[in-house]
Amino acid sequence: MNILQNISLKKYNTFGINVNAKRFVEINSTPELKGILAQEKDIFLLGGGSNMLLTSDIEKLVVHLNLKGIIVNETENDSVFVTAEAGENWHDFVIWCISQNYGGLENLSLIPGNVGTSPIQNIGAYGVEIKDTFHQLEAIDIATGNKSVFNKDDCNFGYRNSVFKNELKGKYIITNVTFKLTKNNHKTNISYGAIKEVLKDIIKPTLKDISDAVIAIRESKLPDPEKIGNSGSFFKNPIINIDLFKKLQQKYPNIPHYVISSAEIKIPAGWLIEQCDFKGKRFGETGVHEKQALVLVNYGNATGQEIFQLAKKIQQTVLEKFAIPLEIEVNVI
Ligand code: EPU
Repeated sequence: MNILQNISLKKYNTFGINVNAKRFVEINSTPELKGILAQEKDIFLLGGGSNMLLTSDIEKLVVHLNLKGIIVNETENDSVFVTAEAGENWHDFVIWCISQNYGGLENLSLIPGNVGTSPIQNIGAYGVEIKDTFHQLEAIDIATGNKSVFNKDDCNFGYRNSVFKNELKGKYIITNVTFKLTKNNHKTNISYGAIKEVLKDIIKPTLKDISDAVIAIRESKLPDPEKIGNSGSFFKNPIINIDLFKKLQQKYPNIPHYVISSAEIKIPAGWLIEQCDFKGKRFGETGVHEKQALVLVNYGNATGQEIFQLAKKIQQTVLEKFAIPLEIEVNVI
């Protein structure tokens, strides 16, 4: 294994932040990973770099996980188990599944990042989360170098959340993920308003039709990280109590919302941020995306600190105007 010195991480994070790794190693196999863990435990793990904001140089050894491969494990009548290695690009994996007519991930087309990090935040879009098709994952315990298998219950999935963001944060390296997908009789989900609208003229949409619709919707709202650095939704959509919601609804009768339970309502953070007049505003090299206020962007040379300062300003303004704290969804490092 070749440990490189002073490597820029700009091309390794979708925000395109130019910080340096003092030492950097590319890992292409599980034995290599175990080898590096035998030498060094205090590492910084880098997957697709799609859910992180880097605010300073990284002093720890940066381990870039590049495990590749897809295996169709075992088949049942209508379903199939598909295992993808952690370093597979998420969107390429989704498109490969669609090409094999394996259903379940089509709504998650075009989400940046790699397969290995997808369970950490239980990635989701357009009415589907990976927990819906997740079967199990394998991970290496950083402390011991031993492999563990986590099933769905072990992962404790929630909205943009899992055990790997909480109790087990920084303790395991996910090496592969297995999904249970449909082979026939696909149980597609096109209930999300924007998808329904795009597919309204198609009587029985195929997996590819749904994927194409999702791609079109995402491309119309979300910036392509290859062109404008970003990390998708910067904040979580906050869940507020019904009393606060009723007060807000009196003042803003058209406030968009999703009912979670009789006591809790989820509000799109993008709407709150737009109401605070941040949408489309540019502050030097950083700003709030013009078509989706939940997305902070790097116009080219922003530092992580600049983006973090903007995030704090947004949080403070939303808190003052709506009494709603916004929680940052990306990992600030
Ligand atoms: N809205 C605004 N202004 C904006 C953006 C949104 O008013 O600038 C309002 C609109 O009323 C819209 C509603 O918010 O109808 C919801 O917007 P959208 O459908 O774009 O979804 P979102 O709640 O902003 C969430 C996820 C996205 C995911 C979409 C679609 C979170 C934090 N974000 O965004 O996930 O793609 O739903 O399912 O839950 C990501 O996590 O990186 C991500 C992009």
